[in-house]
Amino acid sequence: MAYKRITVEPLTGTIGAEIDSVDLRHLDTETISEIRRAFLDHVAIFFRDQPLDIEGLKAFTSHFGPFGVEPYVKTLTEHPEVIAVVKEADEVNTINFGGHWHSDWSFQEAPPMATILHGQDIPSYGGDTIFANMYLAYETLSDGMKTIIDPLVAIHSARRSYGTGKTLLGDKKRKSMTIIQSEEAHAEMEHPLVRIHPETGRKALFVNPVYTIRLKGMSESDSKEILDKLFRHSVREIFTCRFRWRKNSLAMWDNRAAMHLALNDYDGFRRALYRTTVAGDRPYGISMPRQEKVA
Ligand code: SIN
Repeated sequence: MAYKRITVEPLTGTIGAEIDSVDLRHLDTETISEIRRAFLDHVAIFFRDQPLDIEGLKAFTSHFGPFGVEPYVKTLTEHPEVIAVVKEADEVNTINFGGHWHSDWSFQEAPPMATILHGQDIPSYGGDTIFANMYLAYETLSDGMKTIIDPLVAIHSARRSYGTGKTLLGDKKRKSMTIIQSEEAHAEMEHPLVRIHPETGRKALFVNPVYTIRLKGMSESDSKEILDKLFRHSVREIFTCRFRWRKNSLAMWDNRAAMHLALNDYDGFRRALYRTTVAGDRPYGISMPRQEKVA
């Protein structure tokens, strides 16, 4: 169906589209529903030249649902729905937030359906974000592989990033963001390995190398062989797009059908963005059927 209120320019043949002819501060119902359609069609959508303040970013986010819950990262004091994703110019040779392939907060019972990121201070070069289409990652597997993985359940946990002891951050802690490490991050959550998208009905791989720690009923080392194969397959170049940031660019992606990664190739420059999430549903699939809500 053609778009009437927005223009939609695909970034690649597989994922990502740039949306134009819209001012995100002034949206009517029809424009919001076209943006949602583009978001579902393209998995990750991008807008340029949108000078939103924090309230404007929150108002835009609210068009798509309630805010998600932000664990383990200190939010803005006055705005518990907003995280500042920052790496300072003098934080060189360090790790960056979001620098490994992941789907946001997939260890939650109901992970956020969308993440929205708005560019504030952007390096002259570097700091792009890459997205991978997890529908295609699933659809391009062989029928035999699909039959093996459809009934599997994956265990997710925040422990590698936010647990106590040594984490992915290692000794290279950043001063620009307050990361909260805790025992709570060691909790485990079961999700279907293959998720049925609640809006499109398509199947997507729902695994990521940061938060998926093993497969149910298998040890971590037994799981590793299958998971590593799926991770490698998911990020084949053909399934990805790369977004180059500018100040006031805004990205919105579907965590139910995408992984993403922030590149850390801009030492010497400050990079700062504000981030919100939109609450999602409990994932379901063949291995974990949808739970009917009890009235
Ligand atoms: C994130 O993982 O949410 C941050 C992505 C980015 O900074 O590009």
